[in-house]
Amino acid sequence: MRALKLTTYHLLFTRTMTDRYAVLGNPISHSKSPMIHSLFAKQTCPEQGRRAGQDISYEAIEAPLDGFNATIERLRREGYKGCNVTVPFKFNAFKCATELSARAKSAQAVNTLSFSDTDIQGDNTDGAGLVRDIELNLAVTLHGKRVLLMGAGGAAYGVVLPLLSAGASLTIANRTASKAIELAAQFSGITGGSYENLAGRQFDVIINATSAGLTDSAVPLPSSPLSAKGGNGGIFAPGALAYDMMYGRETPFMAFARREGAQVADGLGMLIEQAAEAFFIWRGVRPDTAPVIAALRG
Ligand code: ATR
Repeated sequence: MRALKLTTYHLLFTRTMTDRYAVLGNPISHSKSPMIHSLFAKQTCPEQGRRAGQDISYEAIEAPLDGFNATIERLRREGYKGCNVTVPFKFNAFKCATELSARAKSAQAVNTLSFSDTDIQGDNTDGAGLVRDIELNLAVTLHGKRVLLMGAGGAAYGVVLPLLSAGASLTIANRTASKAIELAAQFSGITGGSYENLAGRQFDVIINATSAGLTDSAVPLPSSPLSAKGGNGGIFAPGALAYDMMYGRETPFMAFARREGAQVADGLGMLIEQAAEAFFIWRGVRPDTAPVIAALRG
């Protein structure tokens, strides 16, 4: 075993045919992906991993900031079957893939690589993870819903196509309005602009894909008059869902949404659903995410 490996979840040490996977990032020690994939694999090989095809290991690897391609080459040489890719390497992964899925092309970023002898297939499961969390776990149908996506950075790019594919009626707002306009222009039937443009409008689902929560900053959404709390005149329609892609703490956006009377969700479900989608790509088996979400919420 090489010193680079920080965390390894070997499900079956005794067999020689263990298929190896990893998540690459920098930093990476905080990653929950090894835990999540370990739980998926245990779940999908009920006889302690002895069912053919579900004998995997999954580890966290910190790739040097200037060494992403070299790390991928090493993994391929060593026979890894694929890897997940996280910050700051999703664009590097997009560039190094020899084949790209439609959703990876649309996202201009890759979070899931699958290796064959000749090819590196790149996919992006973030948007699918978001849609599955909203529709299956939170039981909110997106088809025909007015959805506001806040942000026009990498996180936003990753989810537009899957939201549109789910039938959402999408508006994009960003602090730098030109970036929202540029992102929206890549699709038909959606608009992008500034937060000021949102005055007087209502949405059924508002998704925070900004990094504002990292600095405890609020996203500049218009708040409703005091008399209209609870989705009766504010930006949240009655019964609206406020979804923050961040997890692990209450962001100012989530607190604001609560005050406005919206249903509030963080991004832990998305994290687990995007991992499940990657597991499905690699293994052809869709794990049951509910117990994994429950385990990680602890
Ligand atoms: P990521 O890959 O996480 O999306 P990014 O590409 O740096 O990160 O994008 C961060 C996004 O959060 C951008 O849309 C950014 O808005 P700008 O394009 O105007 O910079 C948005 N963002 C960050 N801090 C914000 C804040 N305090 N209020 C509103 N939007 C913010």
